[in-house]
Amino acid sequence: MTATVTRFDLICAGCGAVIPAGQRAWTSPDGDPVCESCKAGGVDKPAEPEPEHEPDTARAPDTDPELAREPEPKPEPDPVPEREPEPERFELDPEPAEPERNGKAKRRPKPNGNAGADLAALIRQIAETAEAQIDPDEVRRIAGETATQYTNAALVGIARAAAAEAVRTEIPAIRDAHTVRVHAAEAVRTIDGPVHPIVHTLAKVCGARLRRGHAPNVLMVGPAGCGKTTAAAHVAEALGLDFGFISLSGGISESHLIGRYAPTGEAGRFEYTEPPFVTAYRDGGVFVFDELDAADENVLIVINAALANGHLRLLTGDVVARHRDFVAIGCANTWGHGADRQYCGRNQLDGATLDRYAAARFFVDYDQTLERSQSDPELCAWAHALRRKVREAGLRRIVSTRFIFDASDLIACEAYTLDDAKRSLLADWSDNDLRTVGEVRP
Ligand SMILES: Nc1ncnc2c1ncn2[C@@H]1O[C@H](COP(=O)(O)OP(=O)(O)OP(=O)(O)O)[C@@H](O)[C@H]1O
Ligand SMILES: [Mg+2]
Repeated sequence: MTATVTRFDLICAGCGAVIPAGQRAWTSPDGDPVCESCKAGGVDKPAEPEPEHEPDTARAPDTDPELAREPEPKPEPDPVPEREPEPERFELDPEPAEPERNGKAKRRPKPNGNAGADLAALIRQIAETAEAQIDPDEVRRIAGETATQYTNAALVGIARAAAAEAVRTEIPAIRDAHTVRVHAAEAVRTIDGPVHPIVHTLAKVCGARLRRGHAPNVLMVGPAGCGKTTAAAHVAEALGLDFGFISLSGGISESHLIGRYAPTGEAGRFEYTEPPFVTAYRDGGVFVFDELDAADENVLIVINAALANGHLRLLTGDVVARHRDFVAIGCANTWGHGADRQYCGRNQLDGATLDRYAAARFFVDYDQTLERSQSDPELCAWAHALRRKVREAGLRRIVSTRFIFDASDLIACEAYTLDDAKRSLLADWSDNDLRTVGEVRP
């Protein structure tokens, strides 16, 4: 049997007694928790009582590949070298051993399906037992951690599925446990259509929660039309959140963010109109600040305050708190250091703005595999070769996913030939640029 120190009360499968938190419990060959006295008949000597609330460092850290295929079970764990104590966690024996027979312990042959069922049952038991006694957030966190403890590939899949399933059925607000949230999202969400590879990383990052209680602010920087805004929409879909965005181009003012009073048309009356940003901030959702590097300074001040303070003051004077599931994603063509030769209309972003995103900045480039899979093959091959030459020569020309997809659609509708598409893209190229990439105007 394997010893475990619990973080919370368990019920002994032998006598039904409560095994209090902090006390050593044992895992029976069937994977059930048993108390010290029920276990006494089945093992050689009674276990030493654990010091209260001591982290269980006798087990390997979760990155230890030996964890899932522990050798022969030993009555007492080997002493471990001194190391930083790990946070205490609930442990499940991934592969319980059979009791000793003829002096030799054997692995209990167990199909993966049983392991998954046992795991799901135990996680359910945790959720049920814990409901009245510990913080539900803690249950979700433990369920999430449990799902990532195993390094055995088969068990990882089972554990994640079981944890996601258990948490889905036992605790509807699965998004609060970010590990499970991401796994659950992967398990249950199917995004309609192809996704940029950055979406997988972003879904994990946006599903995580910082110590301040909310998601990190994300900045995506990349060339025009590579799929940044679309990727943000896919992240919202993956996490099951609402999606909203505002393009911060010229003409956008603070009122587009914090709201304004608009005439109702009745006897000079005005009514407050709530903008989508406020709704997402208060109720949760993925919200994109598109063209962040083109925004007016005053608009940035409003955004900065909302992202830093955890609350937002509206035009009405009301203050709304930032929802735990409000995810801010800034999209830009530059890193905020001002205009460059390619993106000459971009502003320099101040340190305060850039710092809001410092922990989660991503460069997003054109994804040629995605482009190839969704476009006219001849056009796509031409566009990829052209893009490569443009980059090699350092030309200020854009060959975007947007162009490839839109032109492919026109060709598919027989509204365009390949030459029409080329003519459109090259329409404003100088003779010098054309010569540099070896093209002639079609
Ligand atoms: N994963 C995708 N699936 C289908 N279409 C996509 C995908 N990614 C991008 N597109 C298409 O490519 C075009 C450009 O995408 P998007 O607007 O997301 O790019 P962007 O990087 O935000 O552009 P900009 O820098 O101009 O804001 C859109 O028309 C969109 O329909
Ligand atoms: Mg965009």
